[in-house]
Amino acid sequence: MIKIGIAGTRGLSTLMGLNAIDDVKVTAMCDLDEGHLNETAEKIGGNVAKFRIFDDMLESDIDAVIIATPMQCHVPQAIAALEAGKHVMSEVTAGVSMDELYWLCECVEKYNKVYMYAENYIYDPRVQQIRKMVEEGLFGDTYYAEGMYLHNIGNLFKYPNGKTSWRSYWQCGVRGNFYPTHSIGPVMQWFPNERIKEISTFSPGIRNDIGLKQDSGTTTMCRTETGKLLNIRVDCMSPRPHNMDYYYLQGTKGCFYSKAHKDDIDRVSFICEESPIYDMKWKKLEEYNSYLPDRYANATEEQKKSGHNGGDFFIVEDFIKAIRNNQAPELDVYKACEWTAVGLLSGISVANNGRTIEIPNFRKNMPVEEKIIKI
Ligand SMILES: NC(=O)c1ccc[n+]([C@@H]2O[C@H](COP(=O)([O-])OP(=O)(O)OC[C@H]3O[C@@H](n4cnc5c(N)ncnc54)[C@H](O)[C@@H]3O)[C@@H](O)[C@H]2O)c1
Repeated sequence: MIKIGIAGTRGLSTLMGLNAIDDVKVTAMCDLDEGHLNETAEKIGGNVAKFRIFDDMLESDIDAVIIATPMQCHVPQAIAALEAGKHVMSEVTAGVSMDELYWLCECVEKYNKVYMYAENYIYDPRVQQIRKMVEEGLFGDTYYAEGMYLHNIGNLFKYPNGKTSWRSYWQCGVRGNFYPTHSIGPVMQWFPNERIKEISTFSPGIRNDIGLKQDSGTTTMCRTETGKLLNIRVDCMSPRPHNMDYYYLQGTKGCFYSKAHKDDIDRVSFICEESPIYDMKWKKLEEYNSYLPDRYANATEEQKKSGHNGGDFFIVEDFIKAIRNNQAPELDVYKACEWTAVGLLSGISVANNGRTIEIPNFRKNMPVEEKIIKI
């Protein structure tokens, strides 16, 4: 039996998935806010042990933790959990400073426990379908992609009790792209075996009177080691309807253009007889549903119920598999740090006229001389 402790209410998004796996049980819950703690423990049901202090939960007999507290808690809690011999699944983003990211890699290597990055947008069936179509060569050589996260979060700067929330500091109290991985994670699935090597970030400055340091939208150009380009836009300050999962992909044989709003559709276009190169036609992505990976195509009703057509089940399934096989998951600590570093370093780039900044090559036993910010 694998016993799981969840820290932070958002961690409940994993509950249905965990409940659907044999020999896995959520046995503990942690939240500093006693009201939230009681409410969420009730949702979990059974004999769940309740803790206000994270370190106290680590002293219980859980095997793994799901860290879904605010961003600035992720690394301190992940390090404490790894040191206590627990496996970790962490919410996004991985950390709030470059040094935190280096410490995180060191601790995952030192304590030899599973660390998985809970970038749930990668588990969207559509993202996995495009990945399969890329693998099967439908797009040819993929070389350009866009990802956008447009979500006005002005209503989250205060808690309902009127106190200032962590989002006013760690998200919108900083310059640059503070939340890049919902966009980078999916598009990196379509650039197999690539690593982001350098970035450059631009913004129109601050165009509101909210009084926080966050730009009114940022555009970050990321270049991979072989010269492929990702154009990542995040805007959490401007007035507009949400669109948190817009993507575009271009290859030598065709492209994918995701829906721009909820009533829109996902489209693809490929060079072929009915779609000649100078008169290419759009087709609905759903016409290519045969490329859905098997586990999505064959998802059971119980798996689908977890959310996102099975995506919310498969993310926890991969975490539990990694624990059982004692193997790093695909979304390992190095990917978590590379994608998070894009956001952290974008703050330096945007404040310096879009200066190009190198992204460190996060990897096992990274030499200490490379654990720096290079400008
Ligand atoms: N993957 C996604 O789609 C997604 C969506 C929303 C939020 N998130 C991430 O989830 C995390 C939580 O976001 P949220 O919107 O739920 O925030 P929130 O402020 O609504 O909730 C955070 C909870 O953590 C508790 N908490 C704070 N500090 C704690 C500590 N030291 N120990 C234990 N509990 C503590 C708070 O009491 C609160 O109940 C963030 O990292 C955010 O980036 C991810």
